[in-house]
Amino acid sequence: MASVICDSVLVTGSNRGIGLELVHQLVDLPKSPGHIFAGCRDPGGPKAQELRDLAQKHQGVITVVQLDTDSPDSIKEASNLVESKLNGKGLNLIINNAGVNIPGSLVETGKKEMVDSYTTNVVGPMLIAKNFHPLLCKAAAQFPQSSMSCSRPAIVNVSTLLSSITRCPENFYRSPMYPYRICKAALNMLTRCLAEDFRKDGILVASLHPGWVRTEMGGPQAPLTTAESVSGMIKVITSLTEKDSGTLLDWEGKNIPW
Ligand SMILES: NC(=O)c1ccc[n+]([C@@H]2O[C@H](COP(=O)([O-])OP(=O)(O)OC[C@H]3O[C@@H](n4cnc5c(N)ncnc54)[C@H](OP(=O)(O)O)[C@@H]3O)[C@@H](O)[C@H]2O)c1
Repeated sequence: MASVICDSVLVTGSNRGIGLELVHQLVDLPKSPGHIFAGCRDPGGPKAQELRDLAQKHQGVITVVQLDTDSPDSIKEASNLVESKLNGKGLNLIINNAGVNIPGSLVETGKKEMVDSYTTNVVGPMLIAKNFHPLLCKAAAQFPQSSMSCSRPAIVNVSTLLSSITRCPENFYRSPMYPYRICKAALNMLTRCLAEDFRKDGILVASLHPGWVRTEMGGPQAPLTTAESVSGMIKVITSLTEKDSGTLLDWEGKNIPW
């Protein structure tokens, strides 16, 4: 990794899976961010032990932040905490990684499955963008002349190939997943809207598909380890430029059609 990725980053859903690996790899970069805010909905709970250990090892760099992305109050409190820790500086990068896959064929999917999935996969990232926008703008003001990149302010929404309407016919029967597909397609629209809205502020916004990854969500059959996926994701994130804002890319940097 040639240059410093960014000064500060917030990763949501960072106590396990892809989110935890993101924190691992970000802190191990030769020029790692000075502040890594690791969002986690239950920082004191048993599922956050590995994250707590990592934060303990990198005190002063990793801050574990209570962040339940389903809760507007939790998001607000997290933004206040991050602001106070940044001590007058802005926040460079948000990786909206927290997500749920409530798998469902049409028969299995009802209102609850749709609403729960939408709350976490769409409303959460939207409220995070809204609440952290002032901090992203503050970071933008630190680099008034430079062009868009992840070292300037950026939001990366972790999406999926299964969100692609164009690619749906080739993978639908393998994984119908109505709530997941529909909500991640909506997340892509959030990416597109924010990319337009925040262009004036110099904030880049992109959706990123991590590949099919061996996590609780991805399952044991998935071909990619979290290490492989995340090292690809970090390469892609560090190479994002203005032309990528408002697009969906995969972990190898290939464009996925909407
Ligand atoms: N794995 C794959 O093959 C794959 C493929 C495409 C896209 N993705 C996307 O990649 C992202 C990470 O997936 P993963 O495979 O790492 O999943 P995972 O192993 O199931 O982990 C999900 C993470 O999200 C957190 N989370 C869920 N709801 C949350 C909420 N309301 N507030 C805060 N955190 C919450 C979980 O926290 P708790 O421990 O508290 O539940 C956990 O840390 C997701 O957005 C997913 O859609 C994954």
